[in-house]
Amino acid sequence: MSFCVAVIGAGTIGRSFAWLFARSGYPVQVFDPRPDLAEVVTELQAEVSADAAAHDMLASELGTISLAESVETAVAGASFVQESGPEDPQAKPKLFAQIAAAAPKDAIFATSSSTIPASLIARHLPPEVAARVIVGHPFNPPHLMPLVEVVPAPATSSDTVERALEFYRSCGREPVALNREVRGFVGNRLQNALMKEAISLVENGVISAPDLDSVMKNSLGLRWSAVGQFEAMHLGGGDKGIRGFMDHIGTSFVEIGELPLDLSEAGMADVYAQVEQAYGQTPSRAGAQTRDRAQQAVLEARRQRDRHTPPPQ
Ligand SMILES: NC(=O)c1ccc[n+]([C@@H]2O[C@H](COP(=O)([O-])OP(=O)(O)OC[C@H]3O[C@@H](n4cnc5c(N)ncnc54)[C@H](O)[C@@H]3O)[C@@H](O)[C@H]2O)c1
Repeated sequence: MSFCVAVIGAGTIGRSFAWLFARSGYPVQVFDPRPDLAEVVTELQAEVSADAAAHDMLASELGTISLAESVETAVAGASFVQESGPEDPQAKPKLFAQIAAAAPKDAIFATSSSTIPASLIARHLPPEVAARVIVGHPFNPPHLMPLVEVVPAPATSSDTVERALEFYRSCGREPVALNREVRGFVGNRLQNALMKEAISLVENGVISAPDLDSVMKNSLGLRWSAVGQFEAMHLGGGDKGIRGFMDHIGTSFVEIGELPLDLSEAGMADVYAQVEQAYGQTPSRAGAQTRDRAQQAVLEARRQRDRHTPPPQ
């Protein structure tokens, strides 16, 4: 029997995952109570086929996207379930109980949740089911962003972690397994630290919002698409690597104090005004497309680099 995937919830994240899984060759069953699901599924299938044709792929290498009438029919033959329903700590445990009751006994149940840990979702499930529940947290849009944070609960089995990593890798992702649950996982904790600093710099009149974006795009953003935090420190510390970096720069960085931060409506008013003046009152679809094209170009540049770089000695 072929490896089938169920996507539960076809909003921003579920649609993108369904695209990715079908493009990776899997038959995908999609369920969402939204009334326009049939149109969403037809549109997704057309987009997957068009992308495959643009990359000279054979139709036989592609998966299919089918509409399921219920959670139960979507998961009935699934080896892997990716849940991307609403971020609701009351609803997710109920949805997972429903999924587990109808899915095959060895299926993996992953949630896209950004904040709800697998231990909360699985807390009323029998141990043999809880062992197969895991967080598979993507960055938006998951068909483009390589990272999936794989976050096991204490009850999750190591076999589930391995199978989830293997599945996401088979879809061309670069998943990373966390050793334990932590609120915000890793990507959003890093993002949160930066978000708070960015807002306080604008609130305290140090820089305008678009100029802060310019600083990021033209320095840290570029660097971080090539190397991560620790590799950057190691490369920037001279012959002693990260130890040299910490000796020369790291300690003085640590002494940089925090600026006041006000996340209330009144505190944020000027930040909102600056962002909306720079980028328009509502985010444009064209803006998202430009972002995606730029990210695709960066990914392609990284692929070229990896093809031509010998492995480190
Ligand atoms: N949007 C992001 O940037 C982002 C990034 C990473 C992770 N996530 C996580 O992904 C999940 C989905 O987020 P989203 O942004 O796609 O939300 P969304 O609101 O766009 O989509 C949620 C979808 O779930 C559907 N839904 C409601 N009840 C359902 C049910 N019982 N069964 C199946 N589907 C149901 C809704 O109709 C809707 O289409 C959340 O858990 C969120 O934390 C979101």
